[in-house]
Amino acid sequence: MTVVTVGVHIVDILTRPVEFIPQGQDTVLVDQIRLTAAGAAAGTAVDLAKLGHEVVSLGAIGDDELGDFLLMVMARHGVDVSKLVRKPGEQTAASILPIRPDGGRPSFHVPGANLGVTLADLDVDALRAAGAVHLGGVDVTFGLGDPAFFALLDELRAQGTIITMDLLSEMPDLLGMARAFLPHVDYFLPNDSQALLMTGADDVATAASQLLAEGPKGVLVTLGAEGSLVVTPEGTTRVPALKVEVSDTTGCGDAYCAGFVTGLLSGRDVVGAARLGTAAAARVATGLGSDAGIESLDDVIRTESENS
Ligand SMILES: Nc1ncnc2c1ncn2[C@@H]1O[C@H](COP(=O)(O)OP(=O)(O)OP(=O)(O)O)[C@@H](O)[C@H]1O
Ligand SMILES: [Mg+2]
Repeated sequence: MTVVTVGVHIVDILTRPVEFIPQGQDTVLVDQIRLTAAGAAAGTAVDLAKLGHEVVSLGAIGDDELGDFLLMVMARHGVDVSKLVRKPGEQTAASILPIRPDGGRPSFHVPGANLGVTLADLDVDALRAAGAVHLGGVDVTFGLGDPAFFALLDELRAQGTIITMDLLSEMPDLLGMARAFLPHVDYFLPNDSQALLMTGADDVATAASQLLAEGPKGVLVTLGAEGSLVVTPEGTTRVPALKVEVSDTTGCGDAYCAGFVTGLLSGRDVVGAARLGTAAAARVATGLGSDAGIESLDDVIRTESENS
């Protein structure tokens, strides 16, 4: 069965290591510059394909060179991009990320075509055929916050499709709108700042239980190098991050989602799936870019078992 990723598609332009922005017109030599397919749908789609799934990615890009690049590189990783919509006159979303020596990642971002995605851009047959649907960045593709899309998600859940959801921004207004999705998804995977901004809670555990009360079966809050907090009606489990040599943490959240979905589809329980997500994220942290580090599902399972 296929996995369908829905939402944000971004071209990331990354360089490392960056300790400072040069003065005037000065040039600083760096070790690496890379261009990758990224964003909460595209980056997760690439990881899912590497983990062995048939993946269809849905959303919108521009009819520009960045869009050509995104299609080429996602297809090269084995993602079906034939149903991605190209919007004439729009720019493909892009980020420039100067990565600090410790892996920290400030960014410059153009949201571009992601802002205009609506239900009309999605291939409903692909969604109906999926074993799992991952919504990546519904705070940015806010046009999907549509009762007709919510009804479709409910229909999919009723037929047994697993629905997961991640976010992209740290903008309180956008995050507030994303709350409307919670009654229509199975698992919600925000990072800590998103969970706090969405709820106004003072701590992550309180935020997670408030989000859980809005309808999902589980809320998994990622905490960067601190791991993640897995909250279900059965209880709360802290899953530690794996100790790896960190190069760049861009896309760790996307990899966590891809590993989590893979774990659920292979029959793991929620905490077991979170451990697979944690191992996938640890692999991605070892290289520059959200497509770095993961070779295959076996490789991620090996990383998981070596660290447990
Ligand atoms: N420094 C690190 N070392 C090991 N694992 C890490 C590190 N940073 C992140 N991770 C793993 O990646 C997971 C997700 O990271 P994080 O909370 O930073 O996601 P995020 O902010 O959503 O990232 P993004 O949206 O850019 O992909 C964490 O739960 C953890 O398991
Ligand atoms: Mg994230």
